[in-house]
Amino acid sequence: MDKKPIYTSLAPLYDRLMEDVDYEAWADYIDELLQLHHPDPEKILELACGTGSIALSLEEFGYYQILATDLSQEMIDVASLKAKQQDSGVRFKTMSFQDINVKEQFDAIYTVFDSINYLHSGKEIIKLLKDCSEVLKPGSLFIFDFSTPKNSMEAVDYLNNEEAGSGALRFFRTSTYDTKKQIHTNEFEIEQLSEDGSQVIHRFKETHLQRVYSLDEMLSIVEQTSYHLVASYGDFDLLEADENSSRVTLVLQCQKQR
Ligand SMILES: C[S@@+](CC[C@H](N)C(=O)[O-])C[C@H]1O[C@@H](n2cnc3c(N)ncnc32)[C@H](O)[C@@H]1O
Repeated sequence: MDKKPIYTSLAPLYDRLMEDVDYEAWADYIDELLQLHHPDPEKILELACGTGSIALSLEEFGYYQILATDLSQEMIDVASLKAKQQDSGVRFKTMSFQDINVKEQFDAIYTVFDSINYLHSGKEIIKLLKDCSEVLKPGSLFIFDFSTPKNSMEAVDYLNNEEAGSGALRFFRTSTYDTKKQIHTNEFEIEQLSEDGSQVIHRFKETHLQRVYSLDEMLSIVEQTSYHLVASYGDFDLLEADENSSRVTLVLQCQKQR
């Protein structure tokens, strides 16, 4: 079986895998946070945008100019195709958030759906925030979510042994969570089928390792940066997150001097 980098062979299946996720509601939430915490958010950078669902929904508000980026060329290819189909003005670019390479300045940066959990140390998160401050205007926002140990403990049962397919592709997922190391592992076996669907002509494997952070851990990481913590919200709400939150969204303000 061929081992592939994450979100490459999975890219054509990603939207199928996420069909139960309400991206429009998620984009509404990001819009709400942007409007609540910034006087006039216009130029927006998304990191780890995947197949672009949030950026494409957010654009529909009509007042954002969005540049959406992701490490995976394959995910960006799917996003670009969706953008073309809906005549969208969102710009897409392949870029690792570990190597920020944009020439513009933004009013806000956001990254959602566990993408930060692909960074396995506080040091990497601190570097990301520092690099982002270079492309953020003074007083602008960095919004991100992360999944917590509670989320992994709850999700591992329904994610493990999941299988689904779309056209000539199908996948099987195994999911495990190491509570001591706080590492959530998702292994995807992806099969490409012959045209009539009767034979497997290619098998790929992707192994996704995510470091799960408690709220306290993440807050102490943020404290080591020059950002100001504006708010910490739990589970798509505007209520303050606590250790029982499965997903926490932090709103940070960039303290760069004018
Ligand atoms: C769980 S998906 C979330 C995608 C998208 N935000 C969504 O809501 O559907 C995680 C994404 O993080 C991206 N990713 C992982 N490491 C990355 C990195 N170093 N730089 C940029 N994107 C990265 C993957 O390619 C993938 O698209």
